[in-house]
Amino acid sequence: MSDAVSFFELNTGAKIPSIGLGTYAVVPSTVITAIEVGYRHIDCAEAYCNQAEIGSALKKLLESGAVKREDLWITSKLWNADHDPEDVPKALERTLQQLQLDYVDLYLIHWPVKIKKGSVGAKPEDVIQHDIPSTWRAMEALYDSGKARAIGVSNFSSKKLQDLLDVARVPPAVNQVELHPQWQQPKLHAFCESKGIHLSGFSPLGSQEFRSSDYVLKNPVLNIVSEKLGKTPAQVALRWGIQTGHSVLPKTSNEARLKENIDIFNWSIPEDLMAKFSEIKQERLIKGTGLFVHESSEVYKTVEELWDGE
Ligand code: A2P
Repeated sequence: MSDAVSFFELNTGAKIPSIGLGTYAVVPSTVITAIEVGYRHIDCAEAYCNQAEIGSALKKLLESGAVKREDLWITSKLWNADHDPEDVPKALERTLQQLQLDYVDLYLIHWPVKIKKGSVGAKPEDVIQHDIPSTWRAMEALYDSGKARAIGVSNFSSKKLQDLLDVARVPPAVNQVELHPQWQQPKLHAFCESKGIHLSGFSPLGSQEFRSSDYVLKNPVLNIVSEKLGKTPAQVALRWGIQTGHSVLPKTSNEARLKENIDIFNWSIPEDLMAKFSEIKQERLIKGTGLFVHESSEVYKTVEELWDGE
């Protein structure tokens, strides 16, 4: 990780590593191998139900001296059932206990969605009206306390970001969203750039759960570029992400793929090949249907409402 795009600078002045390990459904001990092979950014969430195991792995690494806390970037996320202002600090405290840390580098509101307290999983009938400004004020207090060194959001459209910017004392540092060659979100990119909000891409390989015949790594453009450069389609997708200006959070529990996915520095995609990515038919893979959107919902009746038409 030694070239110019190894880090992106946030509006807090902190530097976020341009690649991180996504940990949803990843075997927690993978974190040890990931850090051993050079990852410094681990993307967690209480909703992934594996933070305690990740915390044990981090403790081992920190105690052995394999890595220093200040060289790690740990992100976690506030779950939808914890949006009430009094629940926000409790949720971060739980996360810090699970991860066995004193602070996280970044804490995100996981979704612009509030669910009933005590709800299990994500079901549209549990979604209730959110009040992002009051949740955000509690996030700002965590930032003030130093327990969250940066705060941000996830799955926010440009409109929801603007609504938040209108009321925020501390502007969000990051918006983490689905980003890959098949869902490039240029409008959101331009908006975030204009407001100094860093975009971070989850499912940068198109995610295993959505593998249809045209899944991202089989895309012809990706394959042409990968053949020309002698890189794998996954490396091209990830390199495309950091060259486009966002950090990438690929998931794998496989050691060979961990190494493959971080080998995206010290080479680049030339401009003529970058231009070919605009030919790729765009499709959002993670829409929120079945999770947060339902025709009888008082909050999000349609996918368009959740994403504000983006
Ligand atoms: P595996 O865990 O077996 O490596 P995303 O990060 O976009 O959600 O995608 C994660 C999926 O992509 C996982 O199924 C993971 O499978 C797979 N994956 C991760 N790295 C690679 C790679 N280099 N080549 C092919 N598939 C990969």
